[in-house]
Amino acid sequence: MASHHDHHGDGGHYERQGWEGDSDDEIQCNHEEGVGKVQHEHHMMDDPLFEKKQWTLADWTDFVGRMPASKSRGKPSMKLVQYVGEILPSEPAKILLPLCGKTPDLRWLYERGNEVVGIEGVEKLVSEFFEAHDDLTHTVEDCSFGKLYKTSDNRLKVYVCDVTKVPSDTLGPFDAVFDWGAFTAIHEDNRQKYVDIITGMLKPDYRYFVEVCHDGPSDMTSGPSNVTLRDLKLNFGPNRQLRFLETRDIAKEWGVDALFNSFVIVTASEKK
Ligand SMILES: C[S@@+](CC[C@H](N)C(=O)[O-])C[C@H]1O[C@@H](n2cnc3c(N)ncnc32)[C@H](O)[C@@H]1O
Repeated sequence: MASHHDHHGDGGHYERQGWEGDSDDEIQCNHEEGVGKVQHEHHMMDDPLFEKKQWTLADWTDFVGRMPASKSRGKPSMKLVQYVGEILPSEPAKILLPLCGKTPDLRWLYERGNEVVGIEGVEKLVSEFFEAHDDLTHTVEDCSFGKLYKTSDNRLKVYVCDVTKVPSDTLGPFDAVFDWGAFTAIHEDNRQKYVDIITGMLKPDYRYFVEVCHDGPSDMTSGPSNVTLRDLKLNFGPNRQLRFLETRDIAKEWGVDALFNSFVIVTASEKK
């Protein structure tokens, strides 16, 4: 099954930057949390959608359509807060959040003065984001490949579209990418295309942060989508280097024999 929304860890301790998130709401992916909570929340066992190993954008739209609307703002990802200095060595910067859902990370990065661009295929999530953040004056307009929600200062934009339809030369160039449950959520038939499109929008000195679940059972349907580290390396290609910030063993949480959650920074290979 593809990785999913609406669960988040305990939040830990982090600095809030200029806006009040709802301290107890959990509206984001946290793959360390494991299977118990997800089954409880989404009744996975009764739902044929959760038998699928790979989700298309239509599956995501179906899933999100069944979720109750929520106006909560949630909290930024702990790992974004922890690693922001690695992802954005200097701010303000221009950062892309592909497959962003309604992540609070958009707002958190915006409040730090950055130029923030999200891409999300399910409009309900994007409209819910802007409903929750109703203090952000914004407009909605059509664009050639979908719809654009943007703040009046143009510093926060979220494109509603299929990421595989984004023309590579339009949104960038970006200093950084924050890929949280995105590389692993995209249907595997589109994964290489996804990487090519996103990496085609980067400045030469980019930092691409990727959160990835990996090396789980190959037939796993009842947990987050997982890849192998070999897939990760091959999709990003020989001219890019992976730096592992952290790896956690999450097999027990998901009730499987092996599964890991890593936080990785992809950069251009250093010139020798
Ligand atoms: C696991 S969620 C991650 C959401 C967000 N990054 C977060 O941390 O909460 C994956 C998201 O990818 C979106 N998605 C999946 N396939 C897509 C596609 N082809 N184009 C655009 N969005 C897509 C889904 O709608 C979903 O919101």
